[in-house]
Amino acid sequence: MEINKVGIMGCGTMGLGVAQVCIQSGIDTVAVKATPGSTDKVRMKVEKSMQRIVERGKLDPDARDAALARLHLSTDENEVADCDLVIESVIEDIDVKTALFQRLENILSNNAIIATNTSTLSVTAMMAVCKERHRVAGLHFFNPAPVMKLVEVIHAFETSEETISTLKAFCNRINKDPVVVQDTTGFIVNRLLTPYMLSAIRLLEMGTGTIETIDYAMTAGASHPMGPFALADYIGLDVVKAMSENIYQDIHQPHMSTPHTLTRLVQLGYLGRKSGLGFYDYSSKPPVQNPALTRPVA
Ligand SMILES: NC(=O)c1ccc[n+]([C@@H]2O[C@H](COP(=O)([O-])OP(=O)(O)OC[C@H]3O[C@@H](n4cnc5c(N)ncnc54)[C@H](O)[C@@H]3O)[C@@H](O)[C@H]2O)c1
Repeated sequence: MEINKVGIMGCGTMGLGVAQVCIQSGIDTVAVKATPGSTDKVRMKVEKSMQRIVERGKLDPDARDAALARLHLSTDENEVADCDLVIESVIEDIDVKTALFQRLENILSNNAIIATNTSTLSVTAMMAVCKERHRVAGLHFFNPAPVMKLVEVIHAFETSEETISTLKAFCNRINKDPVVVQDTTGFIVNRLLTPYMLSAIRLLEMGTGTIETIDYAMTAGASHPMGPFALADYIGLDVVKAMSENIYQDIHQPHMSTPHTLTRLVQLGYLGRKSGLGFYDYSSKPPVQNPALTRPVA
C-alpha cells in the first residue's frame, strides 16, 4: 500500500516536526490542532522552521513554498478522513490517546493505518480499543524530527506484517531510517535514555555535581552531543516525567521512579526549552542553570 496523504493529530513539538518532514518529502499532509484556537501561530512555526533551513542553504525558497502549499492545517479531526496514514502526536496520556484512536477508526477508511508517536505508552493498549487491530502500529520519531534519522517502527501484538512493511517503505520515502521494535515500554531508545536522565537528576540531588558539571562531564567524557539535563530540557520535562512514570508502572524498578526534582519542576510549569525554563534558564544566551535549582528542591 502506498501512502499518498498523511494526517497528523496534535500540533506540538513533534506533530509539527513530523508534518514538516512529510511536506518536505512531497506528501500532502493534514495537521489537526488538538486544542481549540487559531492555526495561524502553528503555520508561522512551520514557516519559521523551514526558513531556517533556507537560510542555511539546505533548501531553496521554491521548494519551501511548494512544501508549505502541501500543508493543510485544521482544528477538525474529520479532515483526515481521506488520509492513508494518521500519526497521532498529542500529549502522552493513555486516556487521551485511546479515545482518539476510537474516534479515528470511525473517521478513516478500513485500509488506513493508525500510528502513534508515543514515547513510552503501550501501543498494544491503544490497539486494544480498535476493531481493525492489524492496521495499528507505532511510528516513534525523534526530536527534532526534521533532523533525526531514526524512526522506531513499533510492532504491537496484532500489527500485521503488511502494516509494518508499508511503514518501513514510508520511512524510507521520507528519508528516515526505520528500525522495527517489539512493543516494549520505552522501545529501544527511551528504555535506555530514560534511566540515564533520571540517574543524572539523582546525582544532582545527592550533590555529586551541578547541572553544568554533570552535563559537561557527559559531553567531554563520553562524547555525547549534549548532557543529560540539556537533553531532558530538549525533550520536555513533562514528557521525561511521563516516560519515567510509564516505565516504572511497567517494571516497578526503583531506578525508574520519578525523582522529586523532576516532579517539582513539572508542577511549577518548568518544562524545559519549550517553556523557556527547565534545568536551564533559556532567557540567557548561552543558557545558565535555573537559579531556583541552586538550592536543594524540597
Ligand atoms: N518531545 C520529544 O522529544 C518526543 C519525541 C518523540 C515522541 N514524543 C511523543 O510525542 C507526543 C507529543 O509530544 P510533544 O513533545 O510534541 O509535546 P507537546 O507538549 O509539544 O505537544 C503536545 C500536543 O498535545 C496537545 N494537547 C494538550 N492537551 C491535550 C488533550 N487533552 N487532548 C489532545 N491533545 C492535547 C497540545 O495542544 C500539543 O499540541 C507524546 O506522545 C510524546 O511522548 C515526544
